[in-house]
Amino acid sequence: MILNASGCLDALTAPRVARSLDAFVAKTITPEPRPGNAQPRLAESDFGLLNSIGLQNPGLDVFYAEVLPLLEELEMPLWISVGGSNAADYARICERIGERDSVDVLELNLSCPNVDPAAAGAAEIVAACRAVSGKPLYAKLSPQLPDIAEVATGVIEAGASGLSLVNSLRGLVLDEWTLEPRLARAVGGYSGAALRPVALAAVFSCYEATKGTVPIVGMGGVQSGKHALDLIAAGASAVALGSVLFGDLEAPERVRSELEEEARARGFERPSEARGAAHQPFAA
Ligand SMILES: Cc1cc2nc3c(=O)[nH]c(=O)nc-3n(C[C@H](O)[C@H](O)[C@H](O)COP(=O)(O)O)c2cc1C
Repeated sequence: MILNASGCLDALTAPRVARSLDAFVAKTITPEPRPGNAQPRLAESDFGLLNSIGLQNPGLDVFYAEVLPLLEELEMPLWISVGGSNAADYARICERIGERDSVDVLELNLSCPNVDPAAAGAAEIVAACRAVSGKPLYAKLSPQLPDIAEVATGVIEAGASGLSLVNSLRGLVLDEWTLEPRLARAVGGYSGAALRPVALAAVFSCYEATKGTVPIVGMGGVQSGKHALDLIAAGASAVALGSVLFGDLEAPERVRSELEEEARARGFERPSEARGAAHQPFAA
């Protein structure tokens, strides 16, 4: 299963790519509109991209009335990413959006590096959302958690159905000559190639901690079928493409066919058969 990562494909561009994705993941929405952070808020860096968008979004009401109907026209499974600053914010969105049949999954963004950390703990947020919605809930976690596997098992116990791993890392890029930060807010979220080993480790540990019993969307620097296969071998059941989409809208189609080829070359009939393969040497 190949998805786009939240925030890396907008509703207007989506129709051009939709057919090559198994589901469309929307950008995180919050209860109230957010103008986002000051410009500049995107900078290229070695091996990746630094962003400080700051969860710019039109807020729940406008999303519900104007954006969701656009996404529904895609006629494909929709994953809606949910943000907020406390458990009640998240629950409010899940309750309202969760009532729509077109919405398959609610992805709880518990990990944006560009907004103040949620006051409530991850498990508390998940429990509040579970109380108001029967939809599958995926917890999207930060690679900077001191013990991501512990948080992963906590959110699953609290009612999460799956995990999305990982969001970006905090990073900083300086201007070559002035030595000033390239982003107005200085520090931003670092994504792209450099995140690959970080994402692999997160998926690997969480797969181990949950004993392969929950679905995991792996993401972080995926640019090729081999990168996707690595995440599946570490324990992902689906792979999401993020930063690569800014430069290459053909990436989902290409990664899908490369993934099938890379899997076959290693004796797997389907990529899904490779799930957890990286763990086998450790099983004995
Ligand atoms: C410009 C930009 C905006 C993003 N916005 C969101 C967002 O709204 N919600 C979210 O959960 N993740 C957001 N992300 C993080 C991505 O979904 C993904 O977790 C991260 O970029 C790692 O994947 P990648 O290395 O393939 O880009 C954003 C990333 C970028 C580059």
